[in-house]
Amino acid sequence: MKRDYSAHFAIILDTLTQSLSKLNCPEGLKENVLHTITQNTIGGKGTRGKAVLESVKVLLGTELTDDMHEKSCLLGWIVEMLQGSFLVADDIMDKSLTRRGRPCWYLQVGTSRAFTEAVMMENLVFVLLRLFFRDQPYYKELLDTFHEILLQTETGQEMDLILSIGGVPMNTSFSLKAYEFIVTYKTAYYSFYLPIKCAMILVGMKEKQAYVDAKRLAVQLGRYFQFQDDFLDCYGDSNVVGKIGTDIRERKCTWLICYALYKASPEERELLLSNYGKHDMESENTIKKLYNDLKMTDLYDELEHLFIKDIGREIQQLDETTGLKRAAFEILFRKMQKRKK
Ligand code: FPP
Ligand code: MG
Repeated sequence: MKRDYSAHFAIILDTLTQSLSKLNCPEGLKENVLHTITQNTIGGKGTRGKAVLESVKVLLGTELTDDMHEKSCLLGWIVEMLQGSFLVADDIMDKSLTRRGRPCWYLQVGTSRAFTEAVMMENLVFVLLRLFFRDQPYYKELLDTFHEILLQTETGQEMDLILSIGGVPMNTSFSLKAYEFIVTYKTAYYSFYLPIKCAMILVGMKEKQAYVDAKRLAVQLGRYFQFQDDFLDCYGDSNVVGKIGTDIRERKCTWLICYALYKASPEERELLLSNYGKHDMESENTIKKLYNDLKMTDLYDELEHLFIKDIGREIQQLDETTGLKRAAFEILFRKMQKRKK
């Protein structure tokens, strides 16, 4: 009988236990590493990992063999573990306080340990890929995909940080163009293209156009996802979202500030520029008040409506003769609409 998706996480942990034992890793240290991985891989929505399995099911359109089911679940968990490593690092960089309803990992174990563990988790992703997939004809493609998407994510994160650190004044560096780059690279590729591409590789899709189409749709879904993430950072209920927003005080190039700067009167613009990215509640509240004056929640509703319309249309127009299936994107799209967390 097939184990369900969640149960495969135990296989990941067993496999990592064996790998760490081969490294002669002392018992206590091994337990620490496994605890870190568990704490930072599970506990989220898990959408990215489950998307691998769901996409494989849709692309094959038949009952999965036990082997295909197992490989899809394991690859899904590997994607989740990569995401876990990103989040540990991202929370240090964003000076965040909570994640998935708990104190951020660096606040639990200290910044140096959290940094080392983020890098270690990233490396262990490649250990797992080797152990589970090295005999597969698509192993090289899988490796190249993980390496490429990792670099893209790092590039997006670097741009996010460079703009937020503030060497260049906001009024010249913040733009919707810079914003689009950041969200495509730091979010869309790993969150949407990676799970779908993993599924396409697993089922053996060869048609180049299918990958081009999948990337285009995945990027659109990713932009929509980060658009919501930026909104929830400021307007979400942190008890529901599971994290307390830091975008305003960390001077992040979000669509809210880009649009606010664009819509503001000269006086409002001055206030936005002088209060954004300041580490005090008063400045943060000034920005939130300006966002309210500029009716950012109405704009959110309007833009969300447009995202839903455009993505819905793109999915409908997807050419399925390449072997790609609309349903793979519909599943992800449905889960995201009007999300509150
Ligand atoms: C979150 O954006 C961004 C990411 C999850 C990408 C992070 C990428 C890295 C840290 C590079 C990889 C580096 C290592 C060392 C593993 P966000 O801050 O807008 O999302 P949030 O609201 O969930 O914090
Ligand atoms: Mg963050």
